Amino acid sequence: MERMRRLRVSPAVRSMVREHHVRTEELVYPVFVIEGQNICRPVESMPGICQYSLDRLPEELNRVTGARIPAVLLFGIPAHKDETGSGAYDADGIIPKAIRLIKSEERYQNLVVIADVCLCEYTSHGHCGLVKDGVILNDETLPLLAQAAVSYAAAGADMVAPSDMMDGRVGAIRSALDGNGFSHIPIMAYSAKFASAFYGPFRDAAHSAPGFGDRKTYQMDPANGREAMREIRADLLEGADIIIAKPAMAYADIIREASARFGVPVAAYNVSGEYAMVKAAAANGWLDEKKTVMEILTGLKRAGASMIITYHALDAAKWIWEEERKNL
Ligand code: PBG
Repeated sequence: MERMRRLRVSPAVRSMVREHHVRTEELVYPVFVIEGQNICRPVESMPGICQYSLDRLPEELNRVTGARIPAVLLFGIPAHKDETGSGAYDADGIIPKAIRLIKSEERYQNLVVIADVCLCEYTSHGHCGLVKDGVILNDETLPLLAQAAVSYAAAGADMVAPSDMMDGRVGAIRSALDGNGFSHIPIMAYSAKFASAFYGPFRDAAHSAPGFGDRKTYQMDPANGREAMREIRADLLEGADIIIAKPAMAYADIIREASARFGVPVAAYNVSGEYAMVKAAAANGWLDEKKTVMEILTGLKRAGASMIITYHALDAAKWIWEEERKNL
């Protein structure tokens, strides 16, 4: 008889046959930076996550590098929003300033700085592209996204990550980067990004909720897996180096299929609502936070993720380190 339990007999044997591991080297930690002074403002719907002004940002970055997390994904909250989201592509906007600050410090030399590229945090209407008569314009938005990417690269970003979901943005960004001497800067594209309820807490954190309507004319319908593969293929043909599937937990099939089909690194974005659910349940004593988080992250690895963008990264890195030390 096949006896599956033979290899489950002890922690040592179980760890010998374990197929997947979450490694700190594969985690990316999102960080919110905001204009102003002496700000470390907790995001209510995301316990443990704060918005940082530039003078307080090093506190958070020291935790990141101390935990040996290799990369941060930066989101900016400007002092002023306008119709065209000019804070996103201003060479002296919050993100270029944050990047220059990080890159000027010796201690962050090895930190991979990924800059999110989108207009929604910077537009008065909260949409990811330009708006005319209630319609989100596609091609008119592309040069602005490209300009944002170039200004982040010029400030010293190691990668750019367009999350706007306009058609053709990866190609526009690639050619603008190439034309400005940044052909070496990779694009991590939010390729399979769904119009999801799980982004709710992020929109509190980034002040980016759409002022009218929703994002369904540019983000994908959660029902569509085949279409996700078309989005990914299009972005790869336009020059994406890494593709993101987002959200992660309800979209593990997308991660699986993309990693099997395209042979490029797939990043799973374990988004704000997924984080908030776990934190809320754990705070009530309904879930064991550590076990739940590690199970989620392991599941995303098993699905085929090469890296995981997660608000749990600092905690997960600590837990991974504790487990390793226990086994020494
Ligand atoms: C902005 C953007 C969003 C997220 C990342 N970039 C929000 C949105 O599309 O509304 C969501 C991240 C999260 O929920 O953690 N385009």
